[in-house]
Amino acid sequence: MVKFEQIKGFVFDLDGVIADTSIYHGKAWHQLADELGVTWTEQLGNDLKGVSRMDSLELILKTGGKENDYTLEEKEKYAAEKNTNYLNLLKDMDQSAILPGMADFIRSLEEHDYKLSLASASKNSPLVLEQLGLAQYFKNRIDPSTLKHGKPDPEIFARGAEVLGLKPEECIGLEDASAGVKSINGAGELSVGIGDPEILHEADINFTDTSQVTLDNIKKAMDVMEMS
Ligand code: G6P
Ligand code: MG
Repeated sequence: MVKFEQIKGFVFDLDGVIADTSIYHGKAWHQLADELGVTWTEQLGNDLKGVSRMDSLELILKTGGKENDYTLEEKEKYAAEKNTNYLNLLKDMDQSAILPGMADFIRSLEEHDYKLSLASASKNSPLVLEQLGLAQYFKNRIDPSTLKHGKPDPEIFARGAEVLGLKPEECIGLEDASAGVKSINGAGELSVGIGDPEILHEADINFTDTSQVTLDNIKKAMDVMEMS
C-alpha cells in the first residue's frame, strides 16, 4: 500500500477536474446527437466523459444503431461540427470556470514542490489552460494526438508519470470520468475520483466535488486506506 510520503507528483485530467468544461463538451455532443437522431441520456453523457473526439462520435452512433450509416469523411465533418459548437461555448470562458478549490489546490501543490502533469484527451486543452490562466502550472502535458489508445487504456496516465521522471506509484491521478479512473488504475497510480461515488466506484479515493480535494484530505484518506 502506497504511503502519502511516497507521493511526488500529480497527474491531472482537465475537463471536469480543473474546469467545468465537461458541461460544455456534454452540451455540444447533445446538440449533435439530436441532429443525428440519437436519443440523449444521462448514461450516454457519463460514458462520453474522458473519451476522445472520434471515439465519442462512434459511441453516439453505436448507441443509436447508426454505426454503419456514415463514411469516414462524414464522421470527420460531424466531429468538426461538434468541436465548432464546443469552441463557441468556450468563447467567453475565463478563470471563473475553474472548479471550486482547484486553483488553490494546484498552487498548494507547487508550494510543496510536487510535480504536475496534464493527462487530458482534449486537443483543446492548451487553449483551455490559457483561458483559465493556469498554463504556467502545466508545462508537462501529454499531446493526445501521440497516443495509440485513449482512456480507459492506461497509456495517457502512464505517460503522465513518465514525463515527470517518476514511477507510477509515486503519482496520484485525478479524474471525473469512469474511463479515466480505469486508466489511472491500469497505470498503477493512486486514483482520486471526483464526482458520483457510484459511477467512480473503482477509484481508490473518492471526493464528491472538487472543493474537497486538498492535500490534507488526500493524506487523511490515504492514512485510512493504510489502516484498513
Ligand atoms: C476530454 C473530455 C471529453 C472530450 C475529449 C476530447 O477527455 O472529457 O469529453 O471528448 O477530451 O476533447 P477534444 O477537445 O479534443 O474534442
Ligand atoms: Mg474529465
